[in-house]
Order: sequence, then C-alpha cells, then structure tokens
Amino acid sequence: MSLHDHPEWLKDAVFYEIYPQSFYDSNGDGIGDIAGIIEKLDYVKSIGCNAIWLNPCYDSPFKDAGYDVRNYKKVAKRYGTNEDLKRLFLEAHKRDMHILLDLVPGHTSEEHEWFKKSSSAEENEFTKRYIWTDSAFSGYSMPFIGGETDRDATYILNFFKCQPALNYGFANRDRSWQSSPESEEAAATRLSMVDVMRFWLGMGADGFRVDMADSLVKNDDNNGEGSLGKDNTIHAWQEMLGIVKDEYPQAAFVSEWGRPRQALAAGFDMDFYLNWRWDGYPNGYARLTRDVDNALDNNPEHDHSYFNALGGGSICQFLDDYCPQYESTCNEGYFSFITCNHDTPRMAPRLSDRERRVAFGMILTMPGVPFVYYGDEIGMKYRDIPTKEGGYARTGTRTPMQWDDSKNLGFSTAPKSKLYLPVEESSNASERRCLVKSGEIPTVSAQEECEDSLLSWVRALIFLRHNRASLHANASWRVLHAPVNGRSFAYERCSVDSLEGSDFRAEKTIVVMNPSLSNESIPLDSLEGLNSKESNPALLQIGEISFNSSSLILGTQSFAIFKL
Ligand code: GLC
Ligand code: CA
Repeated sequence: MSLHDHPEWLKDAVFYEIYPQSFYDSNGDGIGDIAGIIEKLDYVKSIGCNAIWLNPCYDSPFKDAGYDVRNYKKVAKRYGTNEDLKRLFLEAHKRDMHILLDLVPGHTSEEHEWFKKSSSAEENEFTKRYIWTDSAFSGYSMPFIGGETDRDATYILNFFKCQPALNYGFANRDRSWQSSPESEEAAATRLSMVDVMRFWLGMGADGFRVDMADSLVKNDDNNGEGSLGKDNTIHAWQEMLGIVKDEYPQAAFVSEWGRPRQALAAGFDMDFYLNWRWDGYPNGYARLTRDVDNALDNNPEHDHSYFNALGGGSICQFLDDYCPQYESTCNEGYFSFITCNHDTPRMAPRLSDRERRVAFGMILTMPGVPFVYYGDEIGMKYRDIPTKEGGYARTGTRTPMQWDDSKNLGFSTAPKSKLYLPVEESSNASERRCLVKSGEIPTVSAQEECEDSLLSWVRALIFLRHNRASLHANASWRVLHAPVNGRSFAYERCSVDSLEGSDFRAEKTIVVMNPSLSNESIPLDSLEGLNSKESNPALLQIGEISFNSSSLILGTQSFAIFKL
C-alpha cells in the first residue's frame, strides 16, 4: 500500500468520536440515539470535524456497552432503526461529512444466533464458527468457558465472558481442535465479516473503525525471523479489505491495533496511537498526556506527562517511541493521534485547561488523521462513578455530553433516574447555571458565547488545519528542535501535494511549544528561516512569544503556529 491507495478525503479529515448512548437523547428515554446525532450534526461540523466514528450501535445485550454484538445487521432498538442510521449517512453526506461504524470482528455476544447454533451438540454450519476445544473438560492457555452449553467442549473467549472468539484459525497449532487459517471454517468466518461490511457500506456507511483488529488469528506472534509479527492476521485483513476496497475504493478503515507497521501492512488506512502502559512503562502517546499511575490522581507531581507544566519532562521520551514508527510507515498510511477514546481516561481534570490547550495544539497539527473524542473540545472531565455495562474504570469517560445549562445539561429531558449515566450537575437550577457560568461545569452553549473558550481554540486549530495543506494528514513532518534537557519542542510540516499543471511551491508550517512554567528559547538557526515577528506573524498563539537576534523565546505554557 502507498499513500495514494488511501481514500482521498482522509487527507483533510478530522474525526469526532461519538459514543451514541451519551451524545444526545432525542426522545426523552434517557439514552442517546441516532436521531439525536442527526440533530447535532451541524454542531459537529461547526467544530471543523468532517467525519465521525460511531461506537457500536447494533443489537446487543450490552454487557460490554455494545461491543458484544447480538446482530451485526440490526441497529439496537434503544438507538433507533436501520432506517435512522441510513438517514444519518444521508444527512452526513449532505454536509460533506463521512461516517465510520464500529466493526467488531473478533467476537460476538454469547447471544448471537451464530453462537447459539455453534453451541449445539449437533453438527451444523456454525459448529466451527467459534473456537471450541474437544471436551467439556479440556482447557487451554487462553481464557475459556466450560459447562454452559450442550456441546461437549469448552470455548475460547476474546475479551469478557460474554464475548466468545470467532474462529480465524491458529497460526501455530499445538492441539488437534485448532483450525488452520487456511481452513474452510476460517475462510467462512472471514467472508461472514466481509458480508457485514458490505451490508453497511451498501447502505451508505463510509467505512469502519475496527475493534481489536490484531486479535483475529490466534498464536500469531511467533512468525520467525524477519517477520513483522501477526503475519496471519495481516494476511486475513489483506484478503477481507482487498475484497471490500475493490468494491468501495473510497471506504476508510482505522484499526484498534496500536502497531502501525503491522496494521498498515494489513491494508488499514489508519492505525491509532493508543494509550498504552506495559508493566508500568508508558508508550509515547501516554507520555504526552497520561504519564500517571492513577487517572484520578490530580496531584501534578505524580503526573509526568509532557504537557503537565510541573511534572513533565523533555519531549524526547515521546519521540523515541513515535519517530521510528512514523518514519517506517509515513509512506504507507496514517498513524492517528486521539484526544482520548471511550476506553481511556479523559485528560481533564488532571491536566488543566491551559495544559490541554497546548496539548490539543500539538495533537491537531501532527501528521496522520486526528480524532477528537466527544466532549474533549469543551473539557469534559473524567469522573469517578460506578461501572455501567462493563465499563468499570472506563465508565468515567463515557458520561453524557454537556450541551447547556438546562435540565440534565441539555442531554435529555428524562428524569435523572432514567439517564444512561449521571450528568455532572447540581439539582438546583440556579446553582447549576452558576457552575456552568464559572466554567466548573463546561457546556457547549457557555463556551460558544466566549471567544476565549477551549471550544473556540479547538475550532481555530481545526479550521487552520483545513486551510493549510501543510497541516493535512499526508504532509511531511520533521523535528526541528527537541532538547533532552529542556521542555520546548518545534517541528516543521511541509505539503506534498502538487496541483497538476500548476507551478507548485511547497507550503511550510512551523509549530513550536513550551508546556513548562519557565521561559525556553530556541536558536533561530534551527527554525528554517523564521526570524522576526514582522516577517513571521503567528497564525495562532497561546502565551508570550518573542524574538531576539538569535532566538525565539517561548514564555510559560506557550504554543504557536507560524507560516514560513
Ligand atoms: C476494544 C473496545 C472496548 C471493548 C473491547 C472488546 O478495546 O474499544 O471498548 O470493550 O474492544 O470488544
Ligand atoms: Ca433516546
């Protein structure tokens, strides 16, 4: 794959992730729905987000908030109907927006028809659709369940107990019951997913975010020397995406994989840079905004995130992880930054408003296609609330969108007890208004009235990104300044598109930042000819920034974008 093979529209796409149950409730039953999303499309577009990733909205027992799919082809009643979803595609397209659905290919709900049939003691078409051992008493080195079905076997799980793994085969086989990835049954599973994708693409969907995309083929890590790892899973995707992309060349696919070398080789257009922490070691993305043991710990000294004014360190720790991945994949596809997602603690309130502004400045000017998680644009907070639908610690990131100072912050007209999750508010209307006004409870309407709000800043960043080819997903990226002993960071973006027949001059943009509480200076000779306020006025700026004869001086918690 090369960048040319990816949908053209991704170059200038900025995504907005919508968790449907928590976005906007149009019929007062306390749960967000598709009609509600349609009503708010103009708002999403007004931020500059021209594409949406919609979390699963299919029929489900909701033991994992919809990632336990009972019917891939049916919208869950609580969200509306298939017709409503079709209308959402239409309304989005009218506004030049694109919608990605969430595909969950690795497992279904234990209540899916396929699994019910697969559980039968009698052999049928679905007997090998899931991964079953050869006796009700045999275990394996992966989580498995026995004693639940008539079938004399145990079944392997992909995630929670309610999510049996679909059978894409085993790369390295050490038991007789394991299928090969080349087997008929594994091929049938792959085709069943192609069928699901065709169903929604035919109805107007623009592609998919793919859940646990790396999980398909089991025992697929040890593929021998010189391999990327996950060779068989990569191969499975090449086949599935190959078929679908032939039929829908402008459909886009983003993987929950977190290893762009593998994911882009598999044929995905984009892979997420996910918030990971293995054995206590944060990856590059976590280093930026979530370098903390406990998301609820607001003590800045315990948080070593780069964007934390007090606790943070040099940008180099991020670069050590990011650069090799970016460099080896930048001609293949996009490695995407997120502000957050439904599995990740929000940055607020741990990081302050100012810290988040500087962080968004970077996230929205890096290469790849960025994703804004609903509510981050107004600074919604991660909250310590009881689990809902298998959310556990993730629940605090999934609370209702905060629209205005009316009842339930404008999310729903339902009584409090009916709300999907509690909204952040006081029951007393005048106190509520007061909290909204002071910014303690952020809402869209309060921030729309204020030129200096976080929402206005996010809008300004996204609109600038749209207007400058050098800030698009495919524009090149190069570090200009990244001291090991210092907190500043500067990079250059350069456009790569040339218009046919025009005499093309690359457009360049320089981004600089200093998240710390002391001044930092960057030698002008590392800034590609940037030299004075008069010749290089900032296109966007936070904090104090000045030039002297040899340096650019970045004041505390500052950020700027310069045109070259
Ligand atoms: C992914 C989803 C997460 C879900 C899990 C199982 O990580 O993002 O929300 O619980 O997969 O499907
Ligand atoms: Ca509703």
